[in-house]
Amino acid sequence: MATGITPLGRKRGQANLAYNLSYPGKMPKQEVLALKPHPGEAIDLGDPQIRLLRGDNIGILLSLLEDKTVSGHIRCVYIDPPYATSMAFVDRNVQHAYTDTLGGAAYLEFLRQRLIVLRELLAEDGSIFVHLDQNMAFEAKIIMDEIFGRSNFRNIITRAKCNPKNYTRRQFGNISDHILFYTKNCNSVWHRPYVRWKPERIGEEYPCVDPASGRRYKKVPLHAPGVRNGETGMAWRGKMPPPGKHWQYRPSKLDQLDKAGEIYWSPTGNPRRKVFFDSAKGIPVQDIWLGFRDAHNQNILVTGYPTEKNFDLLRRIIRATTNPGDWVLDCFCGSGTTLEAAKQLGRNCIGIDNSEAAIAATVKRFASGRERMGDFVKMKKSSSARPPEITLFG
Ligand SMILES: C[S@@+](CC[C@H](N)C(=O)[O-])C[C@H]1O[C@@H](n2cnc3c(N)ncnc32)[C@H](O)[C@@H]1O
Repeated sequence: MATGITPLGRKRGQANLAYNLSYPGKMPKQEVLALKPHPGEAIDLGDPQIRLLRGDNIGILLSLLEDKTVSGHIRCVYIDPPYATSMAFVDRNVQHAYTDTLGGAAYLEFLRQRLIVLRELLAEDGSIFVHLDQNMAFEAKIIMDEIFGRSNFRNIITRAKCNPKNYTRRQFGNISDHILFYTKNCNSVWHRPYVRWKPERIGEEYPCVDPASGRRYKKVPLHAPGVRNGETGMAWRGKMPPPGKHWQYRPSKLDQLDKAGEIYWSPTGNPRRKVFFDSAKGIPVQDIWLGFRDAHNQNILVTGYPTEKNFDLLRRIIRATTNPGDWVLDCFCGSGTTLEAAKQLGRNCIGIDNSEAAIAATVKRFASGRERMGDFVKMKKSSSARPPEITLFG
């Protein structure tokens, strides 16, 4: 926390929710949960770890509520629903995939009903990620605050989805989309991801070298903001913490650190903690993700399904919030990106989609893998199919 900022007690986001989003057709939660379940059609991928279901996800989610193996046991939900774009999507072979025509209140209620059921399916220590773009992400945030509780909001992750574009409109180029991250409770499964320092940044970040061991380190404060009355607010080695601050550790721990050579004493006798490069895990991942653009070069592997998401993005989300053997659920699974990432990480997964093309893409993904994007470009050139009116590749 920055110097001079003192927390006032209540945690951010813990205020009672004194507002909600109102729109025509907003169904009471109990009525949503009383809608008719439908099991959908099970598609056999020949893999007991992966369940693929075809049909409208609302009915299927409601029927999963009755399935004791998964209801209340889903550790991670990732969804990438339609974004209210008013577009029709075709795959790289110019075959119809799905249409995205709902807008406004109808769209929000469509999403809300699914989120209500998804919350019931989540484990008490589960997490949910909802991938949207600037079109609806901010309305969806309010809906998610209502359903999951504002105190369970974790992040809005901003992702760079593509390379910079040449925009002709009077606005900045839009290369970001957003992933809303909530947990069901405060004790969710969490494995913090780290990334490595780039070699050229290591010297800048860890500028000191320990003369005894030759290890590279940086110096960080040994105190933190806030006044404490216990041991950490008292003098250590005759030195009080600076005004308005307390020691980060008890004196016994500070003694231990000093004995281990992990404290740097300035010429004027001020202690600072040495953080060694070789024992640091790397840079904790923050909420801006630049390394996960969707298909952007001819060598990347894709299924050819439109709006197919970056495989490594899904790996990061699943690794951070689940353990091997856990259940992962994606009820807008498209080409099955979430399913493949979950499978590769040793998790169980349920995928749902109502599009023939999505189911076909997922079946093909598991039967013969993805293909280089360049191979689809060649196929397109030799294809005689006429492009439909609106064509958008993900
Ligand atoms: C943005 S795409 C998901 C792409 C996916 N993340 C991937 O990596 O391939 C949205 C998907 O939601 C599916 N969908 C839309 N409405 C649905 C509904 N009511 N039930 C099931 N699936 C639906 C569409 O068929 C489409 O495949």
